[in-house]
Amino acid sequence: MAKAAARFVCQKCGAVTNKWAGRCDGCGEWNSIVEETPLAQGPAGKSLGQSRGRKLPLTDLSTKEAPPPRTACKIDELDRVLGGGLVPSSAVLVGGDPGIGKSTLLLQAAAAFARVGLKVVYISGEEASAQVRLRAQRLGLQDAPVKLATETNLRDILTTLDEEKPDLAIIDSIQTMWADNVDSTPGSVSQVRAAAHELTSFAKRRGCAVVLVGHVTKEGNLAGPRVVEHMVDTVLYFEGERGHQFRILRSVKNRFGPADEIGVFEMTGGGLAEVSNPSALFLAERGTPAPGSVVFSGIEGTRPVLVEFQALVAPSPHSQPRRSVVGWDGSRLAMILAVLESRCGIPFAGLDVYLNVAGGMRVAEPAADLAVAAALLSAREDAALPPETVVFGEISLSGALRPVGQTENRLKEAAKLGFSTAIVPRGGKARGGKAMKLTQMSDLAGFVGEVFGAG
Ligand code: TYD
Ligand code: MG
Repeated sequence: MAKAAARFVCQKCGAVTNKWAGRCDGCGEWNSIVEETPLAQGPAGKSLGQSRGRKLPLTDLSTKEAPPPRTACKIDELDRVLGGGLVPSSAVLVGGDPGIGKSTLLLQAAAAFARVGLKVVYISGEEASAQVRLRAQRLGLQDAPVKLATETNLRDILTTLDEEKPDLAIIDSIQTMWADNVDSTPGSVSQVRAAAHELTSFAKRRGCAVVLVGHVTKEGNLAGPRVVEHMVDTVLYFEGERGHQFRILRSVKNRFGPADEIGVFEMTGGGLAEVSNPSALFLAERGTPAPGSVVFSGIEGTRPVLVEFQALVAPSPHSQPRRSVVGWDGSRLAMILAVLESRCGIPFAGLDVYLNVAGGMRVAEPAADLAVAAALLSAREDAALPPETVVFGEISLSGALRPVGQTENRLKEAAKLGFSTAIVPRGGKARGGKAMKLTQMSDLAGFVGEVFGAG
């Protein structure tokens, strides 16, 4: 690429030449000419070129800002995930598999926000108004003051929103929107990006909060919600197993609150019901302790949640034994199997390993390592852990156990649900009490010896 022509500017009078000189021809000043580097290089029209912009006024960090005013809709599980309520002019993306219950959740949210006084517009690009009204009836929300329209044309939608001036606009779904200035089919990456860009900048300009629904897609020709994640302030995913009635709303990004917060719902015949005590729900199906089942005391966002890990270990008929995981990270499982093998001498070669988190929950914390190891060992040895026991702790590659954060909260939640013993790493801030007996371990080999008698 041809190098852009050099530019020399007199720092006194601003005269521009294409050659350096000791004295400025314009004002006669000596030693005032300096070479100025262009802002960008590249073909004209494709780069910023040489022309300079306006210098921005810079401020410092100490200026006081009031926290954004929020509106809570009184669906606590939703408010908490949003960081305490909906922020005006924010853009929220709600992603999830088709059929998981996004439209149900957002219709309920629309009604709830309308009932606390917000002006709410719900635009459906997928269902006819009659269908949405039928759903509202089924949910008992037909009297909520929500304005409804069925449309996919972005220009018409923006015009409508501009004139209606709602506080909250819900767009279901972003994949059905169609911007007439973009030359590709609805659902394509460029259409989805363009529509999301227009809607989020509308939110900022007009002070209207926008919620975009995005389907998680498996095929490549339909853009998924990931392509707009960077444009919005808050990204929530609605997840759950189809066969289970539990649904988890998880914040993966939040410019106005903590990420990794979860809200738990149950899909019922009358819509989504809040689950305010998720631990009790996730452990509801648990009977007497069985081999391979271990209760983990985890932290989701700001809340402790107890979940059950289930493992099955069986001789493999295949030359490559199976490693199958639901609700936990597959490579983390491989790591724990490797540590068990090389630090504790417990081989899993020739054995199929299945690991599952009960209730359709997904756990991402390394603090669950010890619970996973305990479930694997318990399944392999066909020996159940002592009853009323919870387990948590991180395992390092050396086989040492590392203490994890929020130990007190984890123990308190376990005690609340009737657990009396906790197996935890040594060195944490944990203190046992009358209600909770602590068994502290410093390494995995010690844990194996103590709990399963030398492995
Ligand atoms: P929906 O909200 O349409 O999913 P999405 O918008 O994510 O595609 O929910 C669809 C499922 O929810 C459907 O299988 C029926 C079920 N459902 C209930 O079980 N109870 C209800 O009250 C409602 C409205 C839906
Ligand atoms: Mg839907």
